[in-house]
Amino acid sequence: MRPQFITFEGLDGSGKSTHLRMAIEWLRGQGTEVEQTHEPGGTPLGSVLRAALLGGEVTPADGVVELMLVFTSRRQNLLQRIDPALAAGKTVICDRFTDSTYAYQGYGRGVAMEAIAALDRIATGGRQPDLTLLFDLPPEVARQRSHSHRRQAQADGTDRLDAEGLEFYRRVREGYLELAALEEERFRVIDSSGPHSETAAQVRQALAGLVAKESAVRRQG
Ligand code: TYD
Repeated sequence: MRPQFITFEGLDGSGKSTHLRMAIEWLRGQGTEVEQTHEPGGTPLGSVLRAALLGGEVTPADGVVELMLVFTSRRQNLLQRIDPALAAGKTVICDRFTDSTYAYQGYGRGVAMEAIAALDRIATGGRQPDLTLLFDLPPEVARQRSHSHRRQAQADGTDRLDAEGLEFYRRVREGYLELAALEEERFRVIDSSGPHSETAAQVRQALAGLVAKESAVRRQG
C-alpha cells in the first residue's frame, strides 16, 4: 500500500487537534510510521506566515491576503515536509489543508471558489489528501468549549472564535459539510459534539481500515 496522506479538518474548538495527537499515538502504537505537520505552519517559512495570519498582521477579514498566505505556507509544507515523508514511506497527518481554505476563505469570507481553485492548481497542482477526517459540531458548542479553554486560547493568541462571530462559523461549518458531501469517498465526518470518548472511537474506526491494510502489506512483505 502506498503511504497515506491524511488530513484533519474542522472548526476552531472542534477538538480536532487533541484527537489528532491521540490518533498519532495510536497509529504509532500499531507500528505505523507517522509524520505530523500542520497548516498554516509546519516549516520555518510557514511559522512566519502563521504568525502573520493569526497575529493580526492581515487587514481584518481580507480573504485574498489570507488566501495567498495559506497557499504559500502550503506549498512550502508540501515541498519540505509532506512529499519527502511520503517518499520515505511514512504516513503523513496534517492538521488542516486545502479544505480549510475552501471553508474559511471561500464559504467564510466569500472569496470566489474559482480563485481558490486557480491558486490551488499553482501551489499544489490540485493535490488532494487520501483521507480527510472532518470534526463536525455546531459553532455554539465549539464556542462553549473554546471558552472553557479560554486562558489557554488567549495565551497562544488563537481565540479566533470570539473575533469572528457565530455567523462566520456557521458558514464555515456548512461549507465543510458541502465539501464532504461532494467527496464522500475521501471524507469521514466525525460527530464531535458528544463526549470525548465517543469522538475518539469514531476516529479510531476511521483509521482502523488503514491500519488493517498496512499490516496485511507488512505480513506479505
Ligand atoms: P489553528 O490555531 O491551527 O486553529 P485550530 O487549532 O483550531 O486548528 O489556527 C488556524 C486558523 O487558521 C484557523 O482559524 C483556521 C485558519 N485557516 C484558514 O483560515 N485558512 C486555511 O487555509 C488554514 C489552513 C487555516
